[in-house]
Amino acid sequence: MLMQCKLIVWDECTVAHKKSLEALNFTLKNLRRYNNIFSGLMIFLAGDFRQMLPVIPRGTPANELNACLKAQPLWNNVKTLSLTTNMRVQHQNSQSAAQFSKQLLSAVIENVFPNISENYQNYDWLSQRAILAAKNNDVQGLNFTMQSKIDGDLVTYKSFDTITNPDDVVNYPTEFLNSLELPGFPPHNLQSKLVHYDIS
Ligand SMILES: *[C@@H]1O[C@H](CO)[C@@H](O)[C@H](O)[C@H]1NC(C)=O
Ligand SMILES: *[C@@H]1O[C@H](CO)[C@@H](O)[C@H](O)[C@H]1NC(C)=O
Ligand SMILES: *[C@@H]1O[C@H](CO)[C@@H](O)[C@H](O)[C@H]1NC(C)=O
Repeated sequence: MLMQCKLIVWDECTVAHKKSLEALNFTLKNLRRYNNIFSGLMIFLAGDFRQMLPVIPRGTPANELNACLKAQPLWNNVKTLSLTTNMRVQHQNSQSAAQFSKQLLSAVIENVFPNISENYQNYDWLSQRAILAAKNNDVQGLNFTMQSKIDGDLVTYKSFDTITNPDDVVNYPTEFLNSLELPGFPPHNLQSKLVHYDIS
């Protein structure tokens, strides 16, 4: 089979030890007897390095990084293709399919924070739920979407950034300072809802 095939698909490659890639290289060379890497065979490696690395029993993170495929010289021949398009949405031609990921996201919000326009003042209710996302950008996007469901005027507060040493102004232009989103600091462009309470 290995002598006849034209393509090897290796899924979840990120958990493989780098030596296994080397072993495949040598095995193919022994069987097919071409001198190019993988004996000229196309190898398709699929996986997400943010998920899972090789498991080294009683190993440290450094051991895992050292065992991972990227630490193998053969990796220099790999051409990386990023998958960024939601193919499930692309392949269904119906109108609602185009909205699929948006619907999924709004369903998450509706499930975790049902009726937020009514419940947002109930702190007990708020403290019992949260939506986590891998990236701060997504968190801010979700936050903004949920904020837009609450009545009230949107007010924008911009931070006031100055450089303490005027000589540094060339190195740290205001546009750059404004682009920083530091943990524990409000964003440069803070958007809040002004809610009018009925005091009567
Ligand atoms: C992969 O196989 C080729 C062909 O046999 C060989 O020249 C090369 O050194 C091997 N690479 C590694 C990293 O083992
Ligand atoms: C939303 O909350 C309000 C006030 O608590 C309640 O009257 C209404 O029935 C709720 N709507 C839904 C769909 O849960
Ligand atoms: C969500 O937005 C509000 C108002 O703009 C802000 O006070 C809050 O810190 C934001 N939360 C997150 C997790 O970004």
